[in-house]
Amino acid sequence: MRIDILRVLPELLEGPLGHSIVKRAREKGTVEIFIHNLRDFSTDKHRRVDDYPFGGEAGMVMCIEPIERALDHLQSKRSYDEVIFTTPDGLTYNQQEANRLSTLENIIILCGHYKGVDQRVRDHLVTREISIGDYVLSGGELAAAVIADSIVRVLPGSISDETSALSDSFQDNLLSPPVYTRPAEYKGWGVPPVLLSGHKARIEEWRHEQALEKTRMRRPDLLDRLEESED
Ligand code: ADE
Repeated sequence: MRIDILRVLPELLEGPLGHSIVKRAREKGTVEIFIHNLRDFSTDKHRRVDDYPFGGEAGMVMCIEPIERALDHLQSKRSYDEVIFTTPDGLTYNQQEANRLSTLENIIILCGHYKGVDQRVRDHLVTREISIGDYVLSGGELAAAVIADSIVRVLPGSISDETSALSDSFQDNLLSPPVYTRPAEYKGWGVPPVLLSGHKARIEEWRHEQALEKTRMRRPDLLDRLEESED
């Protein structure tokens, strides 16, 4: 899979996408991630990519020209399955969308910035608008890093223990059950005895019950989704 990210602020992306699972997946060639500077596609002598809004509202707006030039440059080389724009008023991101994106071959993520982007970019150049939650970040770079990380995590080969990504919270619309490691007793705080029993079936049953209970308490909306998908 190939992910191209168009951004204005470099530092916010290079760090998160240069460590741990994503770093190893890039080194192994499981995923290729290219980060491009939108300013390189500006024709302005100061390399500006934003301008004042028509109608006089506060804040700067990202211009359509450098964005279209950057997209043209990439799309002339290969075809892309999605051009994603990160924005707080997009569709709320979730695990199902991460799974879906991980099945695609080439995607572009355009990081939103300033007060917004010229609406014509959204109307004509972008195929999907994604929000990573109901809060506003200073820029779309962190959202792009979140999206890229969650995609890479579920790509086959990214995680050596194949089942590990599949047992993440949300994969089956359930939150993950609690986990424990040594010591079995710490300051008088014990571990649920079933986990020390060596009884595989009972452990699995306990885990499922715990996952259900946690989801019921914290995210009952996920259980509604589970019922809908079973209907
Ligand atoms: N840009 C600013 N806030 C955002 C959010 N919540 N999701 C995606 N992009 C954003």
